[in-house]
Amino acid sequence: MKINGHYLELQDSYLFSTIAKKVAAFGESHPEAEIIRMGIGDVTLPLCPAVVEAMQSAVAEMGQKESFRGYGPEQGYDFLREAIAAYYAGNGVSLELEEVFVSDGAKSDVGNILDIFAQDNQVLIPNPVYPVYLDTNIMAGRNVRYLQADASNGFLPMPDETVDADIIYLCSPNNPTGAVYNRQQLKTWVDYANQKKAVILFDAAYEAFIQDSSLPRSIYEIEGAKTCAIEFCSLSKTAGFTGTRCGYTIVPLALECGGTKLNRLWLRRQTTKFNGVPYIVQRGAAAVFSSEGQRQTKEAIAYYQKNAAVMAQTLQKMGVWFTGGTNSPYIWMKCPAGYSSWEYFDKLLEQAHVVGTPGVGFGENGEGFFRLTAFGDAEKTKEAMRRMEALG
Ligand code: MLT
Repeated sequence: MKINGHYLELQDSYLFSTIAKKVAAFGESHPEAEIIRMGIGDVTLPLCPAVVEAMQSAVAEMGQKESFRGYGPEQGYDFLREAIAAYYAGNGVSLELEEVFVSDGAKSDVGNILDIFAQDNQVLIPNPVYPVYLDTNIMAGRNVRYLQADASNGFLPMPDETVDADIIYLCSPNNPTGAVYNRQQLKTWVDYANQKKAVILFDAAYEAFIQDSSLPRSIYEIEGAKTCAIEFCSLSKTAGFTGTRCGYTIVPLALECGGTKLNRLWLRRQTTKFNGVPYIVQRGAAAVFSSEGQRQTKEAIAYYQKNAAVMAQTLQKMGVWFTGGTNSPYIWMKCPAGYSSWEYFDKLLEQAHVVGTPGVGFGENGEGFFRLTAFGDAEKTKEAMRRMEALG
């Protein structure tokens, strides 16, 4: 027996597990501390009423012989795929139903998609970025090159014509920096990918936070994207589904490699290794796209955006450099007084009992930076900001 030795090349544990362990240990030794969590981007508002009602009626259906359902289609029920396609149509993107694959979230699909690509692909990954892209490629033993993102390019790396690429990861609005590509920048990426016959894996998990209507929410708003991009999205942050689990992946029929449609490969992969998302959850997900669901989820997003504004005001008062928070639920700040990311994490936890995410956890270029999420309770967010300000 041989293990996959590439697992030994990974860091000891996944970033958010490391943080959770550190916070739990601190909590145990300081039971009096009222810890405020602004680390992992986990939502705090409940599911909206439209979703709850839809799920309750789905539960009732499942309890009756006449309406009970067993296995569903692996790629999702048509009622949800239609709702997703209609949502895209609202942003000017037309999709065929077979291009939409319902899943249990963007994280799984972003990792699983690697099944359909050969081993010897050249992968480009922004640094800093969501750690799942890098870790899943390390697990698969793939060659990774970094796209350097820093303050000089607004944390939005652009293609380098002299560099070859087969698989390119882009995340916009970006996790962790909150930076968003504009249309022209995305067009440059799409042209580069088409020219290199590369595929862009576009993570749109935070699209619902875009306020500026000139910014693209989907890569398919860009001409040429259907021949070079797969898009991942999730209802986790859009509609509070972090614990409920539902997302979707778009694999256009026009996306081909040597005459093979990637859509067919992904369908084959999903029908073999995945049995679909629960019917009850898919009914709840479809309700997100109803007009009532859209109104209610937008209210929740506005609540989080108010938190982001409170955080931004505090950092401005403190004279701390930061980005994000406007078209994104994340604030990406420079650590005060030259602290390293983990030094600031420890200081904030120990002295203010506030948890954030060390920027270096998203890649070396994140060293000296820190990420805070706006997904908290409004009062607790205000309290955390008071404590941070007092700490200086
Ligand atoms: C984050 O905090 O970066 C996200 O919550 C992680 C995720 O969505 O898996």
